[in-house]
Amino acid sequence: MDKKQAEEILKKHNQGHILEYYDELDDNQKKSLLSQIEKLDFSLLDIDKKSGHGSDGRIEPLEAMKLGEIEKRREQFEAIGIDAVKQCRVGAVLLAGGQGTRLGFDKPKGMFNIGVNIELTIFERLIQNLMDVVNKSGSYVPLFIMTSEKNNDDTVQFFEENNYFGYDKDFVTFFIQDMAPSVDYTGKIYMEDKDRISLSPNGNGGWFSSLMNNKQAVKKIEEFGVEWLNVFSVDNVLQRIADPVFVGAVIDSGCVSGAKVVKKASPDEKVGVMCKKDGHPYIIEYYEFTDELKEARDADGEPAYNYGVILNYIFRIKELKCIMDVDFPVHVVEKKIPYMNENGEHIQPEEPNGYKFEGLILDMIMLLKDCLVFEVEREKEFAPVKNKEGVDSIDTARELLRKNGVSI
Ligand code: UTP
Repeated sequence: MDKKQAEEILKKHNQGHILEYYDELDDNQKKSLLSQIEKLDFSLLDIDKKSGHGSDGRIEPLEAMKLGEIEKRREQFEAIGIDAVKQCRVGAVLLAGGQGTRLGFDKPKGMFNIGVNIELTIFERLIQNLMDVVNKSGSYVPLFIMTSEKNNDDTVQFFEENNYFGYDKDFVTFFIQDMAPSVDYTGKIYMEDKDRISLSPNGNGGWFSSLMNNKQAVKKIEEFGVEWLNVFSVDNVLQRIADPVFVGAVIDSGCVSGAKVVKKASPDEKVGVMCKKDGHPYIIEYYEFTDELKEARDADGEPAYNYGVILNYIFRIKELKCIMDVDFPVHVVEKKIPYMNENGEHIQPEEPNGYKFEGLILDMIMLLKDCLVFEVEREKEFAPVKNKEGVDSIDTARELLRKNGVSI
C-alpha cells in the first residue's frame, strides 16, 4: 500500500488523522505505518452493527454430565482419552494473548510467580499439569501457544530460557493472534505514537483463525494428525489440560465439542452459564441472566441453569473449519487506552477513555451442533488468577494450590 491508497481508504472511514505526521517519519517508520493501515479491519469499527451476544432466542437448559456419572464411567472414559492422546489426536491450545490488565502485571501473565517459598511461574505450573498426561500416556501432547504482538517475544524468550520447563520443544508451537484498533468515544482510532496505531489483541475468539493462519502450526497439526483441540486459559493454575477423562467422555458422547463446567457458587456468581439457544449449545452471560432463569428448576428440583464455564473447551477441528468464515459477533469493551494527544504527548489515562473490540471464544460454541457439558470439581480444577486481590486473585489461587497439595 502506498501513501495515496492509504489516504483514500482512511478518508472513506473518516480516519485521516492517522497520517497527520507521515511526512515527518523516516522511511522505515513510513513503511511500518502503511503496513498497519493495510492490515486494519474497518468493519470492526462499525459500532452500530455490533450485536454482541444478543438475548433474543429460545433459551432452554442443557443437561450436564455430572460428577456421579463421570465417576462411574471414569475408567472407560480415561482409556478412550489415553488412547487418543497416545495417537496424538489431541492437541492443546494455551490462550496467552491477553493483557491481564486486572492483575496489573507488566509482563505476560504466564510469567507471574505464583510461588511463595519457591519460584513457580504460571507457565511452569501449566506445563507441570500437562506433564501428568504425558507421564500417564507416554506421549507428548502437541501444544500451541497463542501470544499477541505485544507479548510474543517475552513469552518465547521465557520458554527458551527455561528450557520449556522440561517439555519437548518439538511439540510446542507459538502463534500470534490478530490485533484490533482502539478508538475514542467518537469512533476515531487512537494513535500510540506518530508512526503507531493503538492496537490491542482482538480477544480470545480469534484463536482458531489465527492458528490456521500460522503455517508452522498447520503443518504440525497435519503431521501429528491432530483431530481435537483442547483450548484453555492461561490464568487457571489448577487447569487440567488434555484431561483424558474429559477427552474420552466427549469422544464417547459423539458430540463435536465439550465444555468443562463447575456448579455455580451462588445464583449471582459472575460466570457464563451453559444452556441451549434455539437448539444450539449456548453460553449465557451473567449480565443476561434473568430472575426467571435463576428460579427455573429441573426435574429433580435443582436449579436448571447451574453450571458455569471455566474456559476449558474441546473442539473437533473438522467442525471448526466449517465455521471459520462465519462473522463472529464483536464485543465492544470500555477500557483505559494509552494514547498520543494532539500535541504529540503520551497520555496514560486514569479513567476509561474509549473502546476496544474483542471476539470471544464462547461465541464459537453456539455455531456448533452440540457440546458435552462436563462437570468438574471447582476446588480441584478452578483457581483463576484474574485480580490482584479479592475474588479470583493471587491469594485465592495460592490457597487452592495448597489445598491440592501443590508445593508453592
Ligand atoms: P481474560 O478475559 O481474563 O482477559 O482472558 P485478560 O486480557 O487475560 O485479562 P484482563 O481482562 O485484561 O484483566 C481469558 C483468557 O483469554 C486469553 C487470556 O490470555 C486468558 O487466557 N486472551 C484474552 C487472549 O489470548 N487474547 C485476548 O485478546 C484476550
